[in-house]
Amino acid sequence: MIKKGNLYYPSEEFKKNAWINNKAIYKKAERNPVKFWEDLAKELVWFKKWNKGFVHKPPYFQWFVNGKINITQNALDRNLEKRKDKPALIWEPEPIKEKARVFTYNELFKEVNKFANALKKLGVKKGDRVGIYLPMIPEVIIAMLACARIGAVHVVVFSAFSSRALNIRLQDTKAKILITADGYYRKGKVIDLKKNADQGIKKTEVKKVVVVKRANNPVKMKMGRDLWWQELVEKESDKCEPVPMDSEDLLFILYTSGSTGKPKGCVHTCGGYTVQAYATAKWIFDLKDDDVFWSTADVGWITGHTYSCYGPLLSGATFVIFEGLPVWPEPDRWADVIEKYGVTTFYTAPTAVRMFEKYGVKFLKGHKFDTLQIIASVGEPIDEAAWKWYFREIGKTKRPLLDTWWQTETGGILITSLPGIGPFKPCFTGLPFPGLKFEILGEKGKKLGPNKEGNLVLLPPFNPGLLRAVYKNPKKYLKTYWTDYGKRIYFTSDRAYRDKNGLIRVVGRADDVMKVAGHRLTTGEMESAIALDKDIIECAVVGIDDEIKGQAPIAFVVSKVKKSQDQIIKQVVFQLRKEIGPIATPKQVYSVKDLPKTRSGKIMRRILRKLFTGEELGDLSTLANSGSVAEIKKIVEK
Ligand code: WT7
Repeated sequence: MIKKGNLYYPSEEFKKNAWINNKAIYKKAERNPVKFWEDLAKELVWFKKWNKGFVHKPPYFQWFVNGKINITQNALDRNLEKRKDKPALIWEPEPIKEKARVFTYNELFKEVNKFANALKKLGVKKGDRVGIYLPMIPEVIIAMLACARIGAVHVVVFSAFSSRALNIRLQDTKAKILITADGYYRKGKVIDLKKNADQGIKKTEVKKVVVVKRANNPVKMKMGRDLWWQELVEKESDKCEPVPMDSEDLLFILYTSGSTGKPKGCVHTCGGYTVQAYATAKWIFDLKDDDVFWSTADVGWITGHTYSCYGPLLSGATFVIFEGLPVWPEPDRWADVIEKYGVTTFYTAPTAVRMFEKYGVKFLKGHKFDTLQIIASVGEPIDEAAWKWYFREIGKTKRPLLDTWWQTETGGILITSLPGIGPFKPCFTGLPFPGLKFEILGEKGKKLGPNKEGNLVLLPPFNPGLLRAVYKNPKKYLKTYWTDYGKRIYFTSDRAYRDKNGLIRVVGRADDVMKVAGHRLTTGEMESAIALDKDIIECAVVGIDDEIKGQAPIAFVVSKVKKSQDQIIKQVVFQLRKEIGPIATPKQVYSVKDLPKTRSGKIMRRILRKLFTGEELGDLSTLANSGSVAEIKKIVEK
């Protein structure tokens, strides 16, 4: 890397080999963004070409109108000619002793077709929703692709989500089929996933459950309902024609935290998402034929959809998925995986980087990371210390460190400097991807200049992969994204500013979303979950800074009955794990007598948060119960 002031640029060598190395691309895309995306779309295979690039009927819009495409034809069939025997997918199981599984493009193609045929036999038709509740095993990739092949809409539910979280998603989508597994490994133990799945399908329309045999743990199979994956695909043909999908047909629904207990189903469509996933994976990760790409994200999240499945395949790259935790059984497991497979692009979250750092550089001894070309970060703001450590210890100061900003809603990365162009600056995400118009707005929608923090918005024509709807909830769609600045401006709900070079730094959320270890949680959904405990009268959750996880939730509860602090903590933790999952486990729970409120009864979460930041509490006289603050302060300090 070449350093100029506080900016870094790629080396001449890197630049020469990169797909995109001329910054003229930005001007070109800006002149006609629709044409820019259409040119990228032309690199893919379409059954029928679109007749209009972009149509806008605020707050709705369409891309590649009347085009017909199938993402799997582009991800699989298109690669068979040149890359038939090249590894597409490498699976690293958690147990060290277990052998990896590798699928060439041809093998993956066949497995997808077989399972697609099996789904058809189970009665799955184009447009039907299929629930996928699987750990990081090859079948999760095969299942997603098989759905897409026949035009079924996949609804992936993170395997560490609770059965309640699964239940809500299955109910909302009315899925008739669920694909799950007997179990999977987590820190050496087998997690019984089937048990959760059985709970999760209660009171849903699920008629068939396909179960992958993964961990060989004993499970109950219900006759007539539950089927083993392995038995199902055995008899199927490995040929299944891809169904031509309209550009605006649904490809998948992926849920993200809502401001209340109910998550939002982000709807992604076939044409726009495919182009977005293809273009961003290729240009941002500079994927070429000899690349091995590893994203540590679980497919239960959007990062896993776009960059642990579709993006690398659309580029004909090899990608790795890993069942376990990157620091288990040893803190350098992740480094072993990089070296074992010669990973060239490593994509992870700041939380993981801080965790690696915490274990100390002694674990890096002996790891040279010779194969790495690009390292990247996603999911939450990356602080300066983590950026520098990542750049120095893993990037060896010679590889581009891409901080990538995007959302479940955007379908693909929207802000990051391109590796062959730069510049890269610690803590800054970088430049918007070519063709995108971001602004930072202040009060009353005023455009803000350099170094002024405001709300980050995206202007038309947006990006092809942006969500088209909140599933079955047009009101929520309008209110969440298209109300603050009107129906023509997409509000990201993030706070950001630009430096004088136009590099964007995203500082955090403008709403009640917390990013806990890169995962999205709202204080609202956590409070709704806690409130389901009948012993609890009132509660408030706030996100506070956390050294490793970025942010962590703290809960304050008022209980109806007198109970020990320990008992209350137990109940609250139980409730959160039951309703959401282990990611919602709070860092602390405080049982208090009263929560600070305004005279109109609004809980003042801001004051609760300040108890942890050491900030001045300010004027408390406007509170209805100012005495509550001193009492809580005492408890917190204890
Ligand atoms: C929110 C979206 C899309 C990938 C995984 C997260 C925050 C995401 C960054 C970044 C600062 C970031 C934003 C965003 N975020 N990437 N590079 N720098 N903040 O998807 O769960 O939908 O969360 O994550 O606040 O709005 P998500």
